[in-house]
Amino acid sequence: MKLRPMLMQDVDAVMALEIRAYAFPWTRDHVTSSLTTPGYTALCLVNDADQLCGYQISLSGVDELHLLNITVAPEQQGRGLARTLLAELLEQAKQQRAEFIWLEVRPSNTRACALYEHEGFETVGRRRGYYPAPQGQREDALVMRRQVMAHRVTAPRTEAGHALD
Ligand SMILES: CC(C)(COP(=O)(O)OP(=O)(O)OC[C@H]1O[C@@H](n2cnc3c(N)ncnc32)[C@H](O)[C@@H]1OP(=O)(O)O)[C@@H](O)C(=O)NCCC(=O)NCCS
Repeated sequence: MKLRPMLMQDVDAVMALEIRAYAFPWTRDHVTSSLTTPGYTALCLVNDADQLCGYQISLSGVDELHLLNITVAPEQQGRGLARTLLAELLEQAKQQRAEFIWLEVRPSNTRACALYEHEGFETVGRRRGYYPAPQGQREDALVMRRQVMAHRVTAPRTEAGHALD
């Protein structure tokens, strides 16, 4: 297995996996715009034959990284591949000196919730009716975050350079 940047020629395989993995998959436009819009990082986890086994899409903000999509092929799940993807995300967050990694998850996605808690994320909020659900219903999102590094709060200074009380 290896991680490499997602390319335009991966979009067909990504969409095929997206449709298998989710009841409400991303649209093709969502995936392609993450490849063309600054700030996004899209990575593919591929086997030795360059077949897609998983992917991850994140968005960098000021002092933070937002995980938007993490998906492992159903037949490859339970082998630690999501952990590999999250380890890479943490590395990326450290390199950009992010303070937090943020994500949203459906409370009904117990597998993903267990994964995130296992990897040090904590629930810090809930967005009401954030996700579409069957029969036209909506489902809340849990907002989770993981601290990457504590940012030092520096006291404001006067023009002469003295720290203010
Ligand atoms: C959620 C998902 C990414 C996990 O991928 P995965 O490769 O199977 O996860 P891993 O094998 O790396 O598992 C890591 C941890 O996740 C949790 N986990 C994995 N499988 C689990 C299961 N069947 N039941 C409960 N927890 C499970 C455990 O905490 C596990 O740690 P452990 O191995 O010490 O028990 C994968 O199931 C998936 O792609 N699901 C569909 C898409 C999705 O829901 N994405 C998340 C959207 S927020």
